[in-house]
Amino acid sequence: MLLNRNIKVVTTHVLNEMKLRGEKISMLTAYDYSMARIIDQAGIDVILVGDSASNVMAGNQSTLPITLNQMIYHALSVVRAVERALVVVDLPFGTYQGNSKEALASAIRIMKETGAHAVKLEGGEEVKESVMRILSAGIPVMGHLGLTPQSIHKFGTYVVRAREDEEAEKLVKDAHILEDAGCFSIVLEKIPAKLAARVAKEVKIPVIGIGAGHDVDGQVLVLHDMLGITQEFSPRFLRRYHNLSEEILGAVKNYITDVKKVDFPNDKEQY
Ligand code: KIV
Repeated sequence: MLLNRNIKVVTTHVLNEMKLRGEKISMLTAYDYSMARIIDQAGIDVILVGDSASNVMAGNQSTLPITLNQMIYHALSVVRAVERALVVVDLPFGTYQGNSKEALASAIRIMKETGAHAVKLEGGEEVKESVMRILSAGIPVMGHLGLTPQSIHKFGTYVVRAREDEEAEKLVKDAHILEDAGCFSIVLEKIPAKLAARVAKEVKIPVIGIGAGHDVDGQVLVLHDMLGITQEFSPRFLRRYHNLSEEILGAVKNYITDVKKVDFPNDKEQY
């Protein structure tokens, strides 16, 4: 699909083609207009309006408290900025589990009120009905397996998932269930690289990893983590591409000093 400025927009179909020709898919989170604009201009393939906004933007300990209205606010801000990337929005905790009618209603609100292109939800077999119902309305769905942060109170910890055979086999089975149900892609979070590689090989849809090694079809990171804005979160899989918190700290300190010294604004910076 071509936009007026000759930008070839990323669709779920494009992602499939990328998997087929072995081109890796790049994905990052964004929650606001300004950041989304920058990463879209940089050429990111997929922007995830993740429920990690609950941690990163709102300072919560988990993703559980964020509401559908709050996700819609973030998604709307992101969609306004994006010209090229595929925008996927997380269905927040409590808006889809166990009730496929509610899942569809939540997904429809996201699509109708934000203009996003797809939704993501966590879980395997247990959310199959919700996935199928959402898909029946023509809404593309991305799955999410492995460490699923909305279930953190069930896991009790953020350690690597599916190290044991039983959990690994369930994960592989769930990936096939999600593919058969019609998901266009699956995120695999914090699982052994070998297992992720096996899933990426077995399913035809693109598999995007976070802490899942390089033998998958693409990678996703939380933007604020990879830019070094968040400081307290340092899992092994996280590569920091910048130390933005230090840069911001320095800039703000300089500003404070300039204001105190009446160095800012100077004669040229006034009317
Ligand atoms: O909410 C989020 O940021 C996510 C990614 C970690 C995949 O789900």
